[in-house]
Amino acid sequence: MLEVRGLRKSFGGLEVLRDVDLDVNKGDVVAILGPSGSGKTTLLRCLNFLETADAGSYSFDGERFAMDKISRRDIARIRRKTGFVFQSFNLFSNKTALQNVTEGLIAAGKRKRQEAEEIGRQMLSKVGLSDRQDYYPHQLSGGQQQRVAIARALAAGPEIIFFDEPTSALDPELTGEVLQVMRGLADEGMTMLVVTHEIAFARQVSGRVIFMDGGVVLEAGTSSEFFTAPREERSREFLRTLQERGA
Ligand SMILES: Nc1ncnc2c1ncn2[C@@H]1O[C@H](COP(=O)(O)OP(=O)(O)OP(=O)(O)O)[C@@H](O)[C@H]1O
Ligand SMILES: [Mg+2]
Repeated sequence: MLEVRGLRKSFGGLEVLRDVDLDVNKGDVVAILGPSGSGKTTLLRCLNFLETADAGSYSFDGERFAMDKISRRDIARIRRKTGFVFQSFNLFSNKTALQNVTEGLIAAGKRKRQEAEEIGRQMLSKVGLSDRQDYYPHQLSGGQQQRVAIARALAAGPEIIFFDEPTSALDPELTGEVLQVMRGLADEGMTMLVVTHEIAFARQVSGRVIFMDGGVVLEAGTSSEFFTAPREERSREFLRTLQERGA
């Protein structure tokens, strides 16, 4: 479904991604792991064209694009098939949960208000927030806000959803409800690419793991391989550090 070859990105003189290759098949849940600063967020942002890569070939649903030269129109077309969930939720503070979910659908001119609201209610129900549709973000817990953000991503009917550390801004007792929603999506066959420090989630839900270090994919494989027999010393060290921190 998504195939990337030779993705490169620098900020000023700093090379942040070097020759990253990535394959995601329909229904895959891929966890992206790696130490802070290794380029995980930059990779996701390049994949959704929130950043422009310096080089790379991008194939989505059989169409191929040069990542540094892709047109706005093609970006818009790809974005319609992709969802993005940010670490910091990025909800509109002056809109209710339901309005946050429907806003994009109505603004894009894809749906009439009534239709959008119907979809919005369905998606809020899916993330367990039917009773919170008229609440504003400041009236919701972090876990609830992130679930609204997931409902918003789902409302557009994406083929793949990118998550950037969806639980790392949350208190530990709120991460479970968000991970449970994500686990449900995985069970339904949603294709997901998830940057996470939640090792239990990566181990239990993701089929494949990409371990990044210093802007390169150091190791990629099935999660059972990665967690039971990581090939690279850096991967082993990373897993040890997480275990020591009790993750
Ligand atoms: N807009 C930017 N301008 C300049 N440098 C940037 C920018 N965004 C990221 N970087 C640099 O790129 C490198 C990778 O950052 P990135 O945010 O992708 O890492 P990460 O793996 O997501 O880290 P974390 O786990 O802390 O979120 C870092 O050295 C960072 O300082
Ligand atoms: Mg990051």
